[in-house]
Amino acid sequence: MEIIYAQDNLSLGQMAARWVAREILVCPHLVLGLPTGSTPIGMYHYLTRLAQEGIISFSQVRTFNLDEYVGLAADHPQSYAFFMREHFWSKVDLPNGNVNIPRGDVSNLAEECRRYDDALQRVGGIDVQILGLGPNGHIGFNEPSHNMEIHTHVVDLTAATIQANRRFFPDSEAVPRQAVTMGVGSIMQAQKILLLVSGESKRDILTKTINGPVSTEVPSSILQLHADITVLTDIKLNRR
Ligand code: GLP
Repeated sequence: MEIIYAQDNLSLGQMAARWVAREILVCPHLVLGLPTGSTPIGMYHYLTRLAQEGIISFSQVRTFNLDEYVGLAADHPQSYAFFMREHFWSKVDLPNGNVNIPRGDVSNLAEECRRYDDALQRVGGIDVQILGLGPNGHIGFNEPSHNMEIHTHVVDLTAATIQANRRFFPDSEAVPRQAVTMGVGSIMQAQKILLLVSGESKRDILTKTINGPVSTEVPSSILQLHADITVLTDIKLNRR
């Protein structure tokens, strides 16, 4: 694991965008795995700027988002599709046909999971996967559990995640209880991974991610086994 420190959240966004931009310059038809959450917002902002300045182009890039809430349509303001459109898709030259995100509003979710995995397989898997880190160590929406799913699947969100998401919804009843998420297998098959972690509240979980035992109870700890992972963080850690 390579660890890169950013001064603060602002420079983390800039550094992440430059890191991704370099990958696109090397490989213009990159298959890019993308996260949601507050952490990558700065990265999307600066990537947009780099694209608008003509330094990079997304015209040949293919993107795959990690996850989506079950029950929310793409036009729901709290859906991840809505988030992505607002922060990124609508602002860069990424063709609509190159954008992939699981749908959470279909009646046959098992079929949707298969469709998503097939689409991933058709492009040969993820080249570069950007990840955020859930407060409980989830990556995508792969929650702490006694096992890990390899493929795209429907997950029951933990009480902690439902509680953490409560602030985005008008009342607790409206908070989705399930999500569709890419599996840990697809994430680990990425050629390269960039994990973004910002804010003191993530110190403990980042320490467990990097130095703790590899355990399904801390899904992010499995990233220790990846051959090419960079952690970009604004949390200064005491290395072991
Ligand atoms: C959600 C997403 C994760 C993301 C996490 C962290 O749970 N499913 O992919 O990493 O949020 O969000 P934040 O960056 O807001 O802490």
